[in-house]
Amino acid sequence: MSMTRNRILFGGDYNPEQWPEETWYDDVRLMKDAGVNSVTLGVFSWAKLEPHPGAREFGWLDRLMDLMHDHGIGVVLATPTASPPPWMGRLHPDTLPRDEDGRTEWWGGRQHFSHSSATYRRYAAAITEDLAARYAGHPALTLWHINNEYCTYDHGDEAAASFRRWLRDKYGTLDALNTAWGTAFWSQGYDSWDGILPPRRAHYLKNPAQVLDFRRFTSDMLLECFLAERDIVRRHTPHTPVTTNFMPLWSGQDGWRWAEEEDTVSVDLYPDPRDPLGAQYGALVQDLTRSQARGPWMLMEQAAGPVNWRGVNHPKPRGLGRLWSLQAVARGADAVCYFQWRQSRQGAEKFHSGMVGHAGEEGRTFQEIKQIGAELHTIGDEVAGTQVPAGIAVLHDWHSWWATDQDGRPSTHVDYPDVLRAWHRALWEAHLTADFAHPEHDLTAYRLVVVPQLYLLTDTAIDNLLAHVSGGGTLVCGFLTGVADEDDRIRPGGMDARLRELFGIRTLHEWWPLDAGETVECGGGLRGTLWSEEIEADGTADETVPYQGGELDGLPAVLRRGRAWYVSTLPAPEALRPLLARIAAGAGVRPVLDGLPAGVEAVRRGELLFLLNHGREPVTVDVPGPHRDLLTGATVTGRITLGRHGAAVLKP
Ligand code: GAL
Repeated sequence: MSMTRNRILFGGDYNPEQWPEETWYDDVRLMKDAGVNSVTLGVFSWAKLEPHPGAREFGWLDRLMDLMHDHGIGVVLATPTASPPPWMGRLHPDTLPRDEDGRTEWWGGRQHFSHSSATYRRYAAAITEDLAARYAGHPALTLWHINNEYCTYDHGDEAAASFRRWLRDKYGTLDALNTAWGTAFWSQGYDSWDGILPPRRAHYLKNPAQVLDFRRFTSDMLLECFLAERDIVRRHTPHTPVTTNFMPLWSGQDGWRWAEEEDTVSVDLYPDPRDPLGAQYGALVQDLTRSQARGPWMLMEQAAGPVNWRGVNHPKPRGLGRLWSLQAVARGADAVCYFQWRQSRQGAEKFHSGMVGHAGEEGRTFQEIKQIGAELHTIGDEVAGTQVPAGIAVLHDWHSWWATDQDGRPSTHVDYPDVLRAWHRALWEAHLTADFAHPEHDLTAYRLVVVPQLYLLTDTAIDNLLAHVSGGGTLVCGFLTGVADEDDRIRPGGMDARLRELFGIRTLHEWWPLDAGETVECGGGLRGTLWSEEIEADGTADETVPYQGGELDGLPAVLRRGRAWYVSTLPAPEALRPLLARIAAGAGVRPVLDGLPAGVEAVRRGELLFLLNHGREPVTVDVPGPHRDLLTGATVTGRITLGRHGAAVLKP
């Protein structure tokens, strides 16, 4: 279901309940000035809409919906269920979640609801029902936004009861659960379902299979909350798309499973303006979101300037906000929105920037917002709805992440998102556009499949990888892949036997994690970091790169057998980039453009070529053929100069 028609949505979270009504008229004037065509209303409005149990105060929202419609601004209407009013916790303490120590998360902040609380769910359904009924026919309504950044855990008693129900559904019998959890270890065998708890505070290491299932359960419970509200709004407005905003590369939800249930996939993205790899992190999240959406997606939130939740919160230098907005569009966004429209004067986020900051309409931020709005309006017609072609798939799976993100592992330095970022960075720096995919997805559209690290792989996923290679595709796997089955049980030999055969590995003798900062030299100048492995090859590999020096001297660090590669360390960035570029070239995947200067990103979307200069200095880029720059209207023949943080959107 499409959210836009030949245009890019531009706007942001709008929290008018924090302001006197006169300000709303000023807001609308400035929104029109900035080209805002979409606002998200009601995200944290529960106490305003339902000040007492069962009460309904819709008048203010009626006036706002009308005001927006009168000015041609669409409304992304949120259900307010991410922040229950204080009366709920006071009257119904069962709605409050508990952490692993049994401590209550009280009201006074936000997201203090238990996903398993029947009382919370009842109140959430009731307010959603009335909201949907009231605004179903309203012409301003363009999209439903359910809750906000689902992210809570609950270890309380009601959650424990639903965990047991979930486990009964999954395993059927206690025997099956005891087997899957390996409870023979440390005398953990359960003789009754009632004995099973969420993984609460324990004396020493917890059962990893229990922790893994708890994370699956949590994702499923939150999804139930989402689906309950989604189904209510769908009943009232079957033709209005529904979304819920993901956090970027967030571990709390199975993002593949969730995305299947949304009409529009949206994400919130806040790269650190000081991070030299902030743009790459942005590109990763954008590629992942596009892949979850299987097409255009929505940037639901970004910051116009600083956030307020880092240790030091840096503003965006001039031009960076525009550049990163265009980057999102290049990588498939059909909506570029912000948290939030007007910077709050009170509350926990009064130091978080807004599109209209404390400096008001004269402020630099707002001036830049106006430019972005105007430019998105100019290119919207050509861009909206088009696809981003990619010949590479990077495989990612939340379940594998959950299995590795635990104690009692070979190395605490191995951080799954960091490994993912390192591999994606190599592709990004080599100007190779990649999608993400689940290991069981159909991979036939991709010539190259990259697996940075999938410690846990199901048998079906392994079949899929093997089929990819036997079907003519190229596969490259990073260390610690194919180690465990879906119950987090180590596979015989420490790595799936079929994968070992695929790569030409006879025996994986030991994992040799490296200390922080330690590196290991390998042939061809390749420097390994983080990890190494003691591998005995079976003699069938077509190519190997050996470890040089140290305990593993002479043993293979990298093996290639046909089109299957295994990389048993994390090559340093200057080694991983050329390695992947070579593998991609061998697979027939070309970079977007050759000979790009450092710091320039190039992305194709539809027939357009986006050029983005992440550097602080102007650069000149050679572009074959004549083009028109949609941002300036200028004709470009042969080369174009991009200023500091400059960008071009070229149409042949
Ligand atoms: C998001 C959230 C917004 C706002 C923002 C600040 O996580 O959805 O409500 O808090 O962060 O960066």
